[in-house]
Amino acid sequence: MSNPPVRQDRPARARTGRRLALVLTATGVLVAGATIALAPSASAGTTLAASAAERGRYFGTAVAANKLSDATYVGILNREFDMVTPENEMKWDATEPSQNTFTFGNADRIVASAQANGQRVRGHALAWHSQQPGWVQNLSGSALRSAMVNHITRVASYYRGKIYAWDVVNEAFADGGSGGRRDSNLQRTGNDWIEVAFRTARAADPGAKLCYNDYNTDGQNAKSNAVYAMVSDFKARGVPIDCVGFQSHFNAQSPVPADYQANLQRFADLGVDVQITELDIEGSGTAQADNYARVVRACLAVSRCTGITVWGIRDSDSWRASGTPLLFDAAGNKKPAYTATLNALNGGSTPPTTTPPPAGGGCSAAVTVNAWNGGFVATVRVTAGAGGTDGWAVGLTLPAGAALVNTWNATPSGPSGAVQFRNVAYNGRLTAGQTTEFGFQANGSAGTLTPSCTAS
Ligand code: XIL
Repeated sequence: MSNPPVRQDRPARARTGRRLALVLTATGVLVAGATIALAPSASAGTTLAASAAERGRYFGTAVAANKLSDATYVGILNREFDMVTPENEMKWDATEPSQNTFTFGNADRIVASAQANGQRVRGHALAWHSQQPGWVQNLSGSALRSAMVNHITRVASYYRGKIYAWDVVNEAFADGGSGGRRDSNLQRTGNDWIEVAFRTARAADPGAKLCYNDYNTDGQNAKSNAVYAMVSDFKARGVPIDCVGFQSHFNAQSPVPADYQANLQRFADLGVDVQITELDIEGSGTAQADNYARVVRACLAVSRCTGITVWGIRDSDSWRASGTPLLFDAAGNKKPAYTATLNALNGGSTPPTTTPPPAGGGCSAAVTVNAWNGGFVATVRVTAGAGGTDGWAVGLTLPAGAALVNTWNATPSGPSGAVQFRNVAYNGRLTAGQTTEFGFQANGSAGTLTPSCTAS
């Protein structure tokens, strides 16, 4: 491709701007009319990509090459998304099935489709313990190290200038509390394999942003702390790293963490971009919609969160289809999660279809809990009823043995038992349907927290 190898961080909103300019020019004497007609879309897009672009972000999806002949799939892809990640086609087993023989056909089809439709590409993934071809699984030591360097060089050079960001290394840290590296054949080549991978990728494609990507790093925990320490060390020593990807595969066992935004922010504060790279949230209806909206709001609140990618288009396209974790149903219809995502991108509150304001006056409250052994964080969302609020109080009964450690955005009446959480000065006044959140950390277990909300 003819692009010079410059970093591809032109704002995604350039596309929107260009379209606007063309319409205004082409309409000639109707310029005034066109301006009025277009004004609403400048503040509220009607597709995920357009709305994200208005917030300076991209909105992407994983794409499978074998679905590019499915008209429904392609229709949604090219209407809604402006970033594409090949779901499997750039992995080591796909691109180098036997040593030094490279096959780019399927990945090329995805890149060509993206380019034809004005979408950018996230490359995924250059070095990973999983989806290695058999010949790599059988290598070790210096032979494996050289094979890795050769692989990264060849693949990243081949796509030089066409990739917005590469997941250079994927999933290199261990789950659980060890805070260490995952054991793998790559790790056994020496602890420096990750920085060697990043330096190799930079040399091969100096224009691509280079990311470290992982799962179970979405909140602050031993694993994300270990990644954080590595990124901070890389920045201190000048190892080239530009971004950290948070896969964000969520379900009931692994919910959106209460400190998701704070965790994104602490990485951003190290001087890297952060990206949500493989978002899917199992569930349905309002609960799923609310979780998607939370993820979007977290990204929008972190200025270095440059975009969100969902891991597939329709539920039936998902690698975990039974959890119906995506934004479109199997027939390609928009789900409540889609509407909540779009509304969150447009800066609105959660749409009325997913959390109707309580009828009449009053307010309602909903609690999300993130628990660990011996403690929990609860996030409480207050929604004003049709009359709005001048102030509110949420009653919650903590189970025996549970006691507050810390509360934010509300004032508790006591440390345990039946607690009334009153608004603080800046969040008491809500217009009809408006929401606000407060939270607290407590010792003990959460049990089932059933909130009641009273408005004044
Ligand atoms: C998954 C794909 O979606 C599946 O089609 C494939 O069978 C296995 O890999 N983390 C990653 C992704 O980084 O590459 C994985 O994708 C999902 C988990």
